This record gives sequence, structure tokens and C-alpha cells, in this order.
Amino acid sequence: MIIILLGPPGAGKGTIADKINSLVPIPVIATGDILRKAIESGSDLGEKAKSYVVSGKLVPDEYIIKIVEDRITESDCEKGFIFDGFPRTINQAKALDLVFKRLNKDIDQVFYFDISYETIINRLSARRVCTRCGAIYNLKYDPPEKADLCNKCGGKLIQRVDDQEETIKKRIDVYNEETSPLISYYEKMNILTKINADQDLEDRFKILWNRLTEIGVIKNSKLW
Ligand code: AP5
Repeated sequence: MIIILLGPPGAGKGTIADKINSLVPIPVIATGDILRKAIESGSDLGEKAKSYVVSGKLVPDEYIIKIVEDRITESDCEKGFIFDGFPRTINQAKALDLVFKRLNKDIDQVFYFDISYETIINRLSARRVCTRCGAIYNLKYDPPEKADLCNKCGGKLIQRVDDQEETIKKRIDVYNEETSPLISYYEKMNILTKINADQDLEDRFKILWNRLTEIGVIKNSKLW
């Protein structure tokens, strides 16, 4: 199963990716997480990506395509994977098409999460993430049991550097300009399902799961 989660910042791509991953044993490839880890470790890639991520701009396509190409050829990706936050430009989508052609792989479905501007600002300003396991919380909608501590691993919860209001606005502008053209790109390929992301997680998940069942990726509510 190969699926793409597409949508603006704060649409809940990471949250739904975690939910799918808890039921289906395939990896989530989140380019944002890979970049944040690289920045934290001070690697070469991290040094190159830092100024883009902190200011809410997109990291140049050439770095991203290389990251993804390397990652999807790892052994845990054999049965499929979930892209969260990739592709993000038409160039990235075209590069992915070429890589998939070479590897004889196909995208099963692209889920586009549509969400209002107000909800994005509301959700992202209250988001907290675990520094140890990456779990996502929301101080308003899904608060941790103990303030600033992860329920799952006890790690410290922090606010992402790019979750300040000004940077969120910049990320939304970048999304509208560079990423939203992907909606029609995948619509034309007839593999796009639109989901209203203002609804709660369970309702969104049900639509996604039903669609995967409908197209035969999940059989009898099981993957394999
Ligand atoms: P990335 O990490 O991918 O950020 P993003 O796409 O902006 O998306 P977010 O992670 O902010 O939001 P999300 O949709 O995952 O929402 P979440 O589930 O957390 O990218 C960061 C940066 O890296 C980019 O700006 C760029 O610089 C760079 N980058 C990454 N990929 C790149 C690429 N391919 N090319 C170039 N550059 C790249 O949910 C948000 C909040 O809402 C959470 O608090 C959650 O608890 C809450 N929530 C979720 N669903 C619900 C619900 N139904 N009801 C109530 N609350 C909810």
C-alpha cells in the first residue's frame, strides 16, 4: 500500500498517519520529521535545511528527492509506506513518478485534507510534540495527562519552532502557492480523495479506511 497524505499545515496529516500506522505495519515517511531530526543532529543536511524550515519555506527539491529516494529503497518499505508531507511541489511529484516507474511501484491513493484557515491557526498554536517519540498533542483538543510530558514515553513536550503565528502564516502562503497545484495533478490521475479535515479524527479515518477498502487495498478490513 502506497498512500500520500496531502494538505496544508495543521490539517492533521501526522495525526492520521500515526493512526494508520497503529493498524497497518508500514512506515510513515514524513519529510518534515526527517528534516527536524537532521537539524537537531547538526548533520550536513540539517545545516542546509535549517534556515528554510525555521522560516516556513520549502527546502529545495533536490535535497528532498534524494532523501525520499534513499528512504523508500530501505527494506522496511517493501510492503508499502505512507508519505506525510511529500510531495509538496509539482517538481517533487514528477520526480516521484519517475522513481516509481523505475521501481515498478504505483501510488494507490492520495488523501487531500481540506481545512479552514481559522482551524489551522487554532490547532497549530496549541500543538505540542514529544521530543523523544514524536507523539503529537494539542493543548485544546488532545492535552497530555501531565503538563509538558508525553503520555506514551514520558518525554518532554515542546512547541515546534515553526508553530509561531507569523511562521504559520508563511507556511500557509507557501502551501497555497507551491503545494496546492498537486490537488489537480492527482485529480487528473484519478487517485485523489478529498476529506474535510475540520471533522474529528475518527470520522476522517473512517472515510480514508472505506476508500482503501473500496479500491481493494484493504480486504475484509485487513491489509494482507
Ligand atoms: P511538516 O513537518 O511536514 O509540516 P506541515 O506540512 O506544515 O504539517 P504539520 O506537521 O504542521 O501539520 P499536520 O498536517 O501533520 O498536522 P498534525 O497532525 O500535527 O514540514 C515542516 C517544514 O519542513 C516545512 O515548512 C518545510 O520547510 C520542510 N519540508 C517538509 N517536507 C518538505 C518537502 N516535501 N519539500 C520541501 N520542504 C519540506 O495536527 C496539527 C494539530 O492539530 C495537532 O496538535 C493535532 O493534535 C491537532 N489535530 C489534528 N487533527 C485534529 C482534529 N480532527 N481535531 C482537533 N485537533 C486535531
